[in-house]
Amino acid sequence: MLDLWQRPRRLRATPNVRRLVRETTLSSDHFIYPMFVADGIEDPREIPSMPGQYRHTVSSLVDRAGEALEAGVPAVLLFGVVPADRKDAVGTIGAADDGIVAQAVRALRAAHPDLVVMTDVCLCEYTDHGHCGHIEGGAILNDPSTASLADQALAHARAGAHWVAPSDMMDGRVGVIRARLDAEGFSDVALMAYSAKYASAFYGPFRDAADSTPTFGDRSTYQMDPANLREAMREVELDIAEGADVVMVKPALAYLDVIGAVRTATDLPVAAYNVSGEYSMVHAAAANGWVDGDRIAAEILLAMVRAGADILITYHAVDVARWLRSR
Ligand code: PBG
Repeated sequence: MLDLWQRPRRLRATPNVRRLVRETTLSSDHFIYPMFVADGIEDPREIPSMPGQYRHTVSSLVDRAGEALEAGVPAVLLFGVVPADRKDAVGTIGAADDGIVAQAVRALRAAHPDLVVMTDVCLCEYTDHGHCGHIEGGAILNDPSTASLADQALAHARAGAHWVAPSDMMDGRVGVIRARLDAEGFSDVALMAYSAKYASAFYGPFRDAADSTPTFGDRSTYQMDPANLREAMREVELDIAEGADVVMVKPALAYLDVIGAVRTATDLPVAAYNVSGEYSMVHAAAANGWVDGDRIAAEILLAMVRAGADILITYHAVDVARWLRSR
């Protein structure tokens, strides 16, 4: 029989009642805006599979980062794009002090003193084979790769990056990078580790944007199997032991259970990366008039917060920040 005393709808009666009992809120305070900066282009170019996102020049990057800051987004995460003829087997250009990311970091720090400037640290954008590490006979080598990653992180730190974020998934790289930064006087630079990063089809549009598709094989000997949750706990534990300041789960939308489990396993901030494929799917459906793009993006991001994420890395950052303000 229906118990007439149980009336949960009382707490949904008006907008202000709903405000009072709301358990989670979405705020642009926690957004990081990922951006691409490209070497060797004269003008920004829209990324075909990621409408509204660009391969930027240093100057258009500075302008767009200013818009993000203005909209209420405190941080950007930079990815470098270089022409094929600047790539080599070990991604040397990624660690150059005058590399495109280092140039961009210096320009952003000069133009926007309050902006938190973060860099992705990986080799796949800079290697001619597109893998995230050195290779030998078709295998991806671990320890030589972590040394190159530390070189790159150091170049970003020298340029003025506040946070560096290794996304390669080599074993031990958090510890190697931390030790290198500390030895060179950059103990203030924070480390956001892509800890539970899965070998995912959701990265498709990003690889177009960054021109980082592997020329052979795939990334499943270093990125995680989407079937595994317990293994994510191990990766998180190792990254924390090696000195990570923030741990990340990536992708996010199809991995809310992982975000929830990581949240209960650590008191460190947990970041969720709402990746390129998640962004492009929302855009494609919105462009067809099938869904309301801003509302659905905000709902997806709110779900990540509810699952336990403190920080949201999202290409929707500027649009959703503006949308939240307009309400
Ligand atoms: C580089 C890197 C990737 C992403 C972030 N850093 C691609 C990959 O691992 O293939 C994906 C980001 C996105 O899809 O938005 N290793």
